[in-house]
Amino acid sequence: MARKKNTVLTLQEKKQRNQPITMVTAYDYPSALAADRAEIDSILVGDSLGMVVLGYESTVSVTMEEMLHHCRAVRRGTQYAYLIGDMPFMSYQADRAEAVHNAGSFMKEAGMDAVKLEGGREMAFTMRAISEAGIPVVGHIGLTPQSAGKLGGYRVQGKTAADAQRLLEDALALQAAGAIMLVIEMVPDRVAARISSSLRIPVIGIGAGAGCDGQVLVLHDLLGIFDRFTPKFAKRYAELSTEMERALKAYGDDVAQGRFPDSEHTFPIDDSEWEKWLETPGPGAGD
Ligand code: KIV
Repeated sequence: MARKKNTVLTLQEKKQRNQPITMVTAYDYPSALAADRAEIDSILVGDSLGMVVLGYESTVSVTMEEMLHHCRAVRRGTQYAYLIGDMPFMSYQADRAEAVHNAGSFMKEAGMDAVKLEGGREMAFTMRAISEAGIPVVGHIGLTPQSAGKLGGYRVQGKTAADAQRLLEDALALQAAGAIMLVIEMVPDRVAARISSSLRIPVIGIGAGAGCDGQVLVLHDLLGIFDRFTPKFAKRYAELSTEMERALKAYGDDVAQGRFPDSEHTFPIDDSEWEKWLETPGPGAGD
């Protein structure tokens, strides 16, 4: 069957059929191409790009301009995956009209299919405003990295009965406000599974166990490119940092030792043209 562009319906149908939804972050053209060729269902242009691509300490410094720039590159590399642009810190928290306007920029200027924002019931009005503007919006609950300071750091959320209940109520409030999907981060597996099965919309877990409707990982964690730290929940499928360093060292050594470039990587000139050129009087010959 010819492959079709994924839509919100494709993802909802997967939930209904109990087929896990696959999602990964990507931040540029080649990583989007790779994810799309690997038939990943959905690509999140996460504000994690601030840490894994731009080298910031946290996601808090990421700007709208940076997000839109990377979203456009991912758009150019994607044909099939459902594309979600992550709204950066302070692009939606201060003012509802500004939130709708910024969400619109992800669609109009960067070709995203949906936007994502962090927060529970306190974000429900903002989510409703974005949704009512016709923009599909994804929620993000549990550990919300943009407010990690308020949560006391990057800690597992929903570990007590009261906290688990609060998360469930947040999830239901966001669904009622028009969320098309939720990301749930760093929550005990049974809590995340109960929340997933209580919702109509797909729930995508990261560090939330196998009972969610799908899984998302940060590309640089799964490929082993980011080694400042690896979260406990991230499985590494490659060690590309090591491989990149090996290749760059080999290149540096080849240049230093005169082994690169060789004839295979060099453009020749015909002998006759070469001789003709040598016979041409050099610069300043007629002075
Ligand atoms: O920014 C991001 O990559 C995310 C994922 C961790 C879900 O929000």
